Amino acid sequence: MQLVVASNNKGKILEIAALVAGVDLLSLKDIGFTDEIPEPYNTFEENAYAKASAISAFCGLNVFADDSGLCVTALGGAPGVDSAHFSGERNDEKNLQEVLDRLKQYDDRSAFYKAVICLICEGAVYYFDGVCEGSILYEKSGDGGFGYDPVFVPDGYTQSFGTLPLAVKNQISHRAKAVRKMVEFLALRIK
Ligand code: IMP
Repeated sequence: MQLVVASNNKGKILEIAALVAGVDLLSLKDIGFTDEIPEPYNTFEENAYAKASAISAFCGLNVFADDSGLCVTALGGAPGVDSAHFSGERNDEKNLQEVLDRLKQYDDRSAFYKAVICLICEGAVYYFDGVCEGSILYEKSGDGGFGYDPVFVPDGYTQSFGTLPLAVKNQISHRAKAVRKMVEFLALRIK
């Protein structure tokens, strides 16, 4: 089965590829899609659908898109759907610093990552989600992963996703949980 992953985010694609076996995973580059897809909505679900449906219309293949972000309790759930450009720029380092700056005045460091996958398979639309609870450090630790990973420590661990191996992140992350749900769904369909 061929499945297009509607993302240009190398960090995300790397994580997803490690979780999806037995499927011919195609990137946007593979299908020749170069446009930027707008993500103007206030929910992860709507943004994931916007990306998946744009790519589905472009190539006619089965496709899935993930929309994800960091939700910080003391910031009222921000950056949320604005995670990729919280500082006003699509710059991981600046976005991460923006969160640290805004959190300076708060003791509550709790946060969670959320991912929502929208799968368009043979014309039907399906959603799968995953959450990873944790807390925000006071400064960066490690440079692995991407985005906010150097300041995010998942519950039950003492090291950030910037330090923990990718294999650990892929056991417990929001994206891994959502991708696993989709993979289980596809495995039942393919049989
Ligand atoms: P999207 O491409 O619109 O879904 O934006 C996702 C953004 O959320 C990324 O650019 C990161 O800033 C943040 N994000 C989502 N998942 C992760 C993760 O696993 N690690 C670090 N940052 C993440």
